Amino acid sequence: MGNVVKKAVFPVGGMGTRFLPATKALPKEMLPIVDKPLIQYAVEEAISAGIEEFIFVTGRGKTAIEDHFDQSAELLNLLSKRNKQNDLKKIMEGIPKPGAIAYTRQQEPLGLGHAIWCARNLIGQDTFAVLLADDIFMSQKSCLKQMIDEYDGNGGMVAVEEIEGEEISNYGVLNVDSMQGNKIKINGLVEKPEYSKAPSKYAVVGRYILTPKIFEYLDKQKKGAGNEIQLTDALSWTAKNENYFGLKINGERFDCGSKIGYLRANISFAINRDDLSEEILKYLRKLN
Ligand code: G1P
Repeated sequence: MGNVVKKAVFPVGGMGTRFLPATKALPKEMLPIVDKPLIQYAVEEAISAGIEEFIFVTGRGKTAIEDHFDQSAELLNLLSKRNKQNDLKKIMEGIPKPGAIAYTRQQEPLGLGHAIWCARNLIGQDTFAVLLADDIFMSQKSCLKQMIDEYDGNGGMVAVEEIEGEEISNYGVLNVDSMQGNKIKINGLVEKPEYSKAPSKYAVVGRYILTPKIFEYLDKQKKGAGNEIQLTDALSWTAKNENYFGLKINGERFDCGSKIGYLRANISFAINRDDLSEEILKYLRKLN
């Protein structure tokens, strides 16, 4: 079957308060893991999974993201004059084709569900992916590609990780209908439940394949956990009307929305790089 998911939404309107003062003037999605901004990892993942239309839901102070995915004529000129072929390649890679990116603004920070709802007219009647740049994966096959390969064209899917202990309260959590190998049929979801009330240990991690049905719920603008319009609540309702699955993802996920996750990602991605691994490992051994 051809790829039926061609559009992806990147909610990038968040304030990034956990990374202040770094994020006072810099969007948190522009924080680098080694030398590449978080948002570029997400966009490259989408490109490699066959996405053709990229919808950014931005907010105030996020113009650096638009500039990043633009071409800088000055930089191109300078690098070609100096014959810096490698650097030229780096700045051309991972940029969607002209006209493939659309930007819309979430005018108020009313929650992730609200951010997705802001993209409704650009989505229309299509099934679409959502990628949260905070979560990045180190895996042989990218997270979204794993999902699209398992997706049968009906209903939706979320990426899932098993989370032990109280940490589960930081996530949207699956209410399990049935297990089908590495797929979990969803019967509902709860956003950030108390540990004792979590319906399972299967947490949603930042990748979704969604149907436009979700907008029927989001249109109501109903607030949920944290007094925010939650994507998880909309998903929970949609999963009762359509087939929604969780897919256990192969690979390691880094929660770059937290400082520790962000630092771990920097270390792990550096260790994985031919040009850096030897030096960084030497340094880490010295610290030990
Ligand atoms: C968001 C979602 C949550 C999901 C998580 C994955 O929460 O609301 O359901 O489990 O992303 O990273 P946030 O991390 O923005 O608090």
